Amino acid sequence: MRRFLVAGNWKMHGSRAANAALVSEILLAGQADDGPEILVCPPFVYLWEVGRSLKDGGIALGAQDVCAEAGGAHTGEVAAGMLADVGCSYVIVGHSERRALYGESDQLVARKFVAAQREGLTPILCVGETLEEREAGRTAEIVLRQLDAAIDLAGPGAFARAVLAYEPVWAIGTGKNATPAQAQEVHALLRERLAAKDAKISACLRILYGGSVKAANAVELFAMQDVDGGLVGGASLNGEEFRRICGAARKPGA
Ligand code: PGA
Repeated sequence: MRRFLVAGNWKMHGSRAANAALVSEILLAGQADDGPEILVCPPFVYLWEVGRSLKDGGIALGAQDVCAEAGGAHTGEVAAGMLADVGCSYVIVGHSERRALYGESDQLVARKFVAAQREGLTPILCVGETLEEREAGRTAEIVLRQLDAAIDLAGPGAFARAVLAYEPVWAIGTGKNATPAQAQEVHALLRERLAAKDAKISACLRILYGGSVKAANAVELFAMQDVDGGLVGGASLNGEEFRRICGAARKPGA
């Protein structure tokens, strides 16, 4: 059975003081055996300090991006080995803001996915369509193209050590989440695509939903068969709200 994962993507928010307050609230969530795995992804400069403050609280640390190169003359970039060195176990790759605002292609994202795994990090590969693409009936084409780029470069076996996140662009930061049925439809499609290559790995792959997840909609989203947790932006900056989302990450009857 897949264990839920609830990940907080802090984006470009925070300060040393604000992070300390947020972490102490999140730590109150504790780590129940039947609860979700919990992850926080602060900006690069705060990773070390946040990681230390999470110590022994059972909460994982991740980064929001990584360089596709292993090191060297790449001014301003951060290598996967450095992220592992400061205590990260996860890294988000291909977030739609990276794709749209910083021109990241499917191929670059796939290289980041591979670079992360090479250093033992678990990549969280984000896929998702824009509103225009959804309205043009192109959702499946877009998300499968984004997934295929990583499968083609890394191989289906690599998904034994990866997480997928479906984040419809029109739902991110808009307050307008996908309906549980809309999310389930795309999650099932993504799982099927990987199942065609490797059924066992596909059955174990965690697929997170992201896009305006909040405590008020988390229970119904997480109740869907192929939704294995959430990638939470805005609501992860409020400790109590984030804890409530974590509390919603249990299969009904579990
Ligand atoms: P949101 O962001 O929860 O604020 O919509 C989600 C994300 O971008 O990961």
